[in-house]
Amino acid sequence: MSSAPHVWPIDPTSTAAWSRLRDRVGAFEPDLRGWFAADPGRAERLSFTAGDLFVDLSKALVDGPLLDDLLALADEVGVAGRRDAMFRGEHINTTEDRAVLHTALRLPETAKLEVDGQDVVADVHAVLRRVYAFAESVRSGEWRGATGERIRTVVNIGIGGSDLGPVMAYEALAAYRHPSIECRFISNIDPTDAATTLADLDPATTLFIVASKTFGTLETLTNARLCRQWLLDGLRAAGADASVVDDAVARHFVAVSTALDKVADFGIDPDNAFGFWDWVGGRYSVSSAIGTSLVVAIGPERFAEFLDGLHTIDEHFRTAAPAENVPLLMGLLNVWYTDFLGAATHAVLPYAQLLHRFPAYLQQLTMESNGKGVRADGTPLTAGTGEVFWGEPGTNGQHAFYQLIHQGTRIIPADFIAVANPAYPLADGDTDVHEVFLANFFAQTKALAFGKTADEVRAEGTAEDVVPARVFTGNRPSTSILAPELSPSVLGQLIALYEHITFTQGVVWGIDSFDQWGVELGKQLAQQVLPAVTGDADALADQDASTRSLIERYRAERRS
Ligand code: F6P
Repeated sequence: MSSAPHVWPIDPTSTAAWSRLRDRVGAFEPDLRGWFAADPGRAERLSFTAGDLFVDLSKALVDGPLLDDLLALADEVGVAGRRDAMFRGEHINTTEDRAVLHTALRLPETAKLEVDGQDVVADVHAVLRRVYAFAESVRSGEWRGATGERIRTVVNIGIGGSDLGPVMAYEALAAYRHPSIECRFISNIDPTDAATTLADLDPATTLFIVASKTFGTLETLTNARLCRQWLLDGLRAAGADASVVDDAVARHFVAVSTALDKVADFGIDPDNAFGFWDWVGGRYSVSSAIGTSLVVAIGPERFAEFLDGLHTIDEHFRTAAPAENVPLLMGLLNVWYTDFLGAATHAVLPYAQLLHRFPAYLQQLTMESNGKGVRADGTPLTAGTGEVFWGEPGTNGQHAFYQLIHQGTRIIPADFIAVANPAYPLADGDTDVHEVFLANFFAQTKALAFGKTADEVRAEGTAEDVVPARVFTGNRPSTSILAPELSPSVLGQLIALYEHITFTQGVVWGIDSFDQWGVELGKQLAQQVLPAVTGDADALADQDASTRSLIERYRAERRS
């Protein structure tokens, strides 16, 4: 794949590869049964290794030269050049004129990368050392609250990328957590979130991490103020004297942000603030200081393994040949499904209970990145972008929504993720329950791919009138990802895999995957609507008829 500079973005639909793909799709008849029968080497040929991840793409809806056309498309739109520009620190986030360097957050200390005059690696490791020292002091009990007690609960206050990555990873790495420090997460401005999260906590043993890239996010600052009030009120109610209360914010609040001046304005000691940089997008920030709660939970050594895992896949994406480059191939398959086969959604189905927040995490990563309607140069898109990512852990999903994936009329590509070794092995008598679990993982992709014909249904003695309802068409695409265990490294690898899949799709579509202007209008309008909600008659009169009537109804229902 050529890494030569391209004029970018290129309209993908103008490429020769796109025309070939369009020509193919008319006559495209997926036939996974036939393809496997005709090609005994298919599973091997379409299975790949990236780090510790074994990725089986053989149940994808591709055959023959189709994959070559997709790789040619990547070449024509300049994926490799764009990838290399990202790793070099060029300002590929064009609408915000920023570098995109989350990959630098996991570079080893010996690496060299200077961007815009900044020694990026040195800066990253300087912050990491401070985060590690802080986390060690909390973990060891050296860090004490204002009354002298050790910290038992760390509450991360953040939203979007300042919440989803840390909470997802904290859940995923439950087996590695500190035995006597719990992390909790407050994100929603719904006061219920703060109220229920804090309800059974002791202010004297609770430490807050305010995580916000901008330190200007309404939800996070509101929750931070609520928590500060809760802390001070709680200490006073427990009889703390004035000097203890005065010292409380310094002993119970730390912050993570790129806006350290705003952190100081909030009253947090700059010594207790950990910075990062505008070249880290919120949804790509779990490997920055935004992961501080995770470092407290799993410790610096394990967090370093997590970073190594991310770096492993960064290197794979940067260096693997296109035909073996897993994120590239998976991204291209997603383009094929979305733009040629009409997929509107993409399921992510972890067969690992601890990954239960992974689909939610991926929703921000993929949909905030690629949910765009114009190309990076402002020209309108000519291809569909941005599938809806969604999912739930198996086997729960099997008893809920898999029916639609198996027999519905829509094509829903699905990624199945499993680990060979469970974090918590259990036996049911002589039966290893993890094996029962994984039998489902293997069976589901088999059922989706190969289905069940009418003759096979009849052969089971099914009454003829019920046969159609019991037929499975098969040819429903899936990817299987198998890792040895859900270690910090493997989690890092999974995250980086999806980051680079998302990147690949964004480059093909020609969009800026690193801005998120689409969240701004709602934020602005919330500020504009607030006076109407709180009773300002003029502000209410300014609203459209529907919004006005909803607010009137709300105000009539609300008990003061
Ligand atoms: O939802 C928009 C967004 O800017 C996300 O990209 C970001 O992760 C989230 O808000 C939180 O922003 P911040 O970390 O600045 O509080």
